Amino acid sequence: MTSTAAQLLDRIVTRRARVGVVGLGYVGLPLALELARGGLHVTGIDHDTRKVAHLQRGESYIPDVSGAEVAALTEAGRLTARTSFDAVAMLDTVNICVPTPLRKTRDPDLSYVVSAVEAIAERLHPGMLVILESTTYPGTTEEVVQPLLERGNLKAGVDFFLAFSPERIDPGNTTFKTRNVPKVVGGTTRQCAELACALYSTAIDTVVPVSSPRVAEMVKLLENTFRAVNIGLVNEIALMCERLGIDVWEVVDAARTKPFGFMPFYPGPGLGGHCIPIDPFYLSWKAKQTGFEPRFIELAGHVNASMPHAVVDKIADALNTHRKPLNGSKVLIAGVTYKRDIDDIRESPALDVMGMLHQKGARLSYADPFVPRLPALACAGGLDLESVSLDPATLASVDAVAILTDHTTFDYDAIVEAAPLVVDTRNAVKRPHPHVFRLGAPQPACADLRPAVVATTHRAA
Ligand SMILES: NC(=O)c1ccc[n+]([C@@H]2O[C@H](COP(=O)([O-])OP(=O)(O)OC[C@H]3O[C@@H](n4cnc5c(N)ncnc54)[C@H](O)[C@@H]3O)[C@@H](O)[C@H]2O)c1
Repeated sequence: MTSTAAQLLDRIVTRRARVGVVGLGYVGLPLALELARGGLHVTGIDHDTRKVAHLQRGESYIPDVSGAEVAALTEAGRLTARTSFDAVAMLDTVNICVPTPLRKTRDPDLSYVVSAVEAIAERLHPGMLVILESTTYPGTTEEVVQPLLERGNLKAGVDFFLAFSPERIDPGNTTFKTRNVPKVVGGTTRQCAELACALYSTAIDTVVPVSSPRVAEMVKLLENTFRAVNIGLVNEIALMCERLGIDVWEVVDAARTKPFGFMPFYPGPGLGGHCIPIDPFYLSWKAKQTGFEPRFIELAGHVNASMPHAVVDKIADALNTHRKPLNGSKVLIAGVTYKRDIDDIRESPALDVMGMLHQKGARLSYADPFVPRLPALACAGGLDLESVSLDPATLASVDAVAILTDHTTFDYDAIVEAAPLVVDTRNAVKRPHPHVFRLGAPQPACADLRPAVVATTHRAA
């Protein structure tokens, strides 16, 4: 190990290292907290003045992150937040946790990464360790980040250290948090990997070194593509089960009793969040650069993207049994976040369902304890709505309730009791019920599909 590397290692191990986290969102804030808890002094940097102001007041803005802990760490001077990158000049390490969305063309949008790296490059100094955590295609660290950092004539692996380590956080998961999810680390050199592993070892129980940044980048994309493809498979099986008159939820629950060779995935209204709907397309974009056609990713994307349409059809079918058209019917959406018990609506399929229902003339309302107000989003029909309460009078006043996110605080018995029709896309209402239409299950037996009696007048010829 070179003396520069040895000095940094010593600063990390003795907790004298000054560490930074750029991007204080769902990934960056929990990481900053773990590093601070591990005994390091952490500086968080984010463009968002609102987030920085919250942290400076010792407050959390992420449900999974305890406000009391943020307060204690800021009070103790172990966690500080800034909007300026100037602090980078004083830091020994910096982890980059900024967004990596897709462009409208489904190409990777690395503009946030590039902007953050350029700001770091201006303040890069010898002996510094830079780690990219944002999910991205294999090659990003060495092909995009490294050249930007080397513009100032410092060389990666020699003058400064560079690694990639994918973030695997699962918002809302109360069992697995940043600390107890193993951290995969790939350095541009062995020394880079050792230093990055040492940094993570201060805060994370298990660190898994791999041979290069591109392997670490690919690990994350394998994990998320695995999920996207399996969710696509079970969504297709769900639609198949509806046609076959079989309950897919019963099938998956029975299949999961097999102790090997099967892992349960559940159908739903479509993919959401900042990862599963996006990350596989980073991989597919990169693969296509080499002339490789990734068929599973495209097929799963196709099936998953069709699910909001299937849900709208299901709501229309349910209303049809009450002889009502979508146009003019009142539909209450229960749950708009992309998954249960979190406040994140990014890419949420509920928004797509709402957009389509609005376009077809349905009169929409929604209830979500995590989203008190839904701003006017084009994808959700451009409506500016406030969450309503799921009291019996409200439930009885609509034509149908569609459960799109199965928050644990919803009272599903009360919903079934009071709502005239329920469309359940999450199997939240566990048992069959005459007016509950479940995704992936046969239509309720007593759904009345007899033609309506129409009064006709017969005139004598
Ligand atoms: N949210 C998840 O569940 C999850 C899980 C694993 C991996 N990831 C990946 O982690 C990365 C971050 O995701 P996230 O959910 O934390 O995003 P986020 O939007 O919650 O947070 C990103 C933060 O970065 C800030 N930011 C953007 N550009 C910046 C810049 N140039 N300088 C300073 N701050 C900047 C934003 O203001 C924001 O606060 C993404 O690549 C994502 O794919 C997310």
